[in-house]
Amino acid sequence: MELKFPEGFIWGAATSAYQIEGAWNEDGKGINVWDRFVRQPYRVLNGDTGDVSSDHYHRMQEDVALMKWLGLNTYHFSTSWTRILPEGRGQVNEKGLDFYERLVDELLKTNITPFLTLHHWDYPQTLQKAGGWPNRDSVKWFVDYARVLFDRLGDRVAYWGTFNEPWVIAFLGYAQGIMAPGICDYSQAYQTVHHLLLAHGKTVEMFKQGGYNGNISIILNLEHFVPHTESKANQDACDRAYQENSDLFLDPIFRGIYPKALFSWIGVHAPKIHEGDMEIISQPIDFLGVNHYRTESISYAMDGGLLKFKSRPHSSPGWGVTEMGWGVDPDGLAFVLRNLKENYGNPRMYISENGCAFRDIPDGDGFVNDQGRINYLRAHIQVIYKMIQEGVNLDGYYVWSLLDNFEWSSGYVPRFGIVRVDYETKKRIPKQSAHWYREVISSNGIGV
Ligand code: FCB
Repeated sequence: MELKFPEGFIWGAATSAYQIEGAWNEDGKGINVWDRFVRQPYRVLNGDTGDVSSDHYHRMQEDVALMKWLGLNTYHFSTSWTRILPEGRGQVNEKGLDFYERLVDELLKTNITPFLTLHHWDYPQTLQKAGGWPNRDSVKWFVDYARVLFDRLGDRVAYWGTFNEPWVIAFLGYAQGIMAPGICDYSQAYQTVHHLLLAHGKTVEMFKQGGYNGNISIILNLEHFVPHTESKANQDACDRAYQENSDLFLDPIFRGIYPKALFSWIGVHAPKIHEGDMEIISQPIDFLGVNHYRTESISYAMDGGLLKFKSRPHSSPGWGVTEMGWGVDPDGLAFVLRNLKENYGNPRMYISENGCAFRDIPDGDGFVNDQGRINYLRAHIQVIYKMIQEGVNLDGYYVWSLLDNFEWSSGYVPRFGIVRVDYETKKRIPKQSAHWYREVISSNGIGV
């Protein structure tokens, strides 16, 4: 049976600057927190770095040609702040800006709609030294950076994202220290949340006032959580996990408030908020980007950090876990989308990232028959189909990722691409999933 998607539904693929570009110190690019983090001992698996990565910076045209072959309607990428402003603020590096202008023009020439996210974790090192996100000045630094891009590309980019996954920046970057800048301090983490949201709101305001074309959004990683057992302690712990991952971002953006229960739990770690901040944060956005990968099973744990919980992967029967150790539970996505429909006014949405890493085994020609990835993608796309039937306002889907790339602290071990990158030769070889996705796009549907 074939499930046909509504006419106008858009199919895309996603990447991010630090993960694919390489060219870490070329053409005037400044240093960002990831350039620094990867050079510190024990931060990244095997000491891998994004210095060269998939070398997209030098192979951009070849990669757009690949997108054309796939038939992508749209491409979601991020810009590197320090390619454009090497010091994070001040002097613009024309060569860096040119690169993104050429990319956007190449996409438009190929009829691929650009979705540009302004920040996907590669924060300028100079600004980090000046205090980073916990410093309230960071809001202004970001808005000024955003303006440079709006002024140059505001006439051509249809979809804009302010931040990719602010939860990750705040909690993995500032509380757990497993992502750059590698800090472990809950007060800084919560202040970071607030400043990221404020920077988002101010940017939306500036975008609207500037009359730029296009639509603007924020991209959240909304995962699903289930209590490990029905005990009250586990259910409460699960609520806290949900509040930190979802409500902490959705409530301020859509309702102009922070979740009360969570803020009373975290006590002294709550951020400093100025009068008027919440109005700015809750500026109407044009759509919401939803990144979704997994479901976690949550249990109360005395030694489980500030929120006192531990999580383990939760998978639907028969699915197992991915190479990241993430639980595969396609129905988790249904819960996430229903929550947005029922409790947050059913905003217009795109799945801005979804995908998986399984161990790829290439044959002698480098071809990978990744049936596991196809099964994962098909199951999630099927859930999306069902949710659209239920009235969820969902207009498009982006697979993570177009290419194998640098998977942050896990280095090059997990491969998320539908196209294999031979890291020695940089050759791109579409996997079976790329051939499958190409069919999905051309028929605007999936066979189940
Ligand atoms: C998301 C990130 C993306 C990639 C995938 C696997 O959380 O946005 O950069 O690492 O996970």
